Amino acid sequence: MEQTLSIIKPDAMERNLEEKIKSVFIENNFQIVKEKKVKLDKKDAELFYKVHEAKPFYNDLCNYLSSGVILVMVLEKDNAILDNRKIMGATNPIEAASGTIRKIFGISIDKNSVHGSDSKENAEKEISFFFKD
Ligand code: CMP
Repeated sequence: MEQTLSIIKPDAMERNLEEKIKSVFIENNFQIVKEKKVKLDKKDAELFYKVHEAKPFYNDLCNYLSSGVILVMVLEKDNAILDNRKIMGATNPIEAASGTIRKIFGISIDKNSVHGSDSKENAEKEISFFFKD
């Protein structure tokens, strides 16, 4: 079994999409083994997205992630990292395949409703960022 970190971002939480998005994970055979709601401050968001610090969108990204409550989850299944990326769809909802979470719920490349770890190394880092035990 593999684990990945998933975040339901502020735009989706504000639109009460939490249960709808969680049901997509469950229908796709993920187990939600840990979850918590958090409100990050800007410094936490900067640490979480440190991998993007050289990108022109970094500041806006960190402002956005710290703008509201998020739901953070550890998802588990075989091939969880890749399978989660498939059901999320492309980063930009306009480019996401039909039926994917970002296509259905995403508003823009910033407000794309969900984050998911992109590699085994980042999944481990991101899970321990939110779940210390
Ligand atoms: P996420 O998977 O959370 O990882 C980093 C986020 O940066 C990404 O989703 C997007 O929401 C956001 N972002 C904003 N602008 C861009 C861009 N030009 N390219 C990639 N990601 C971007």
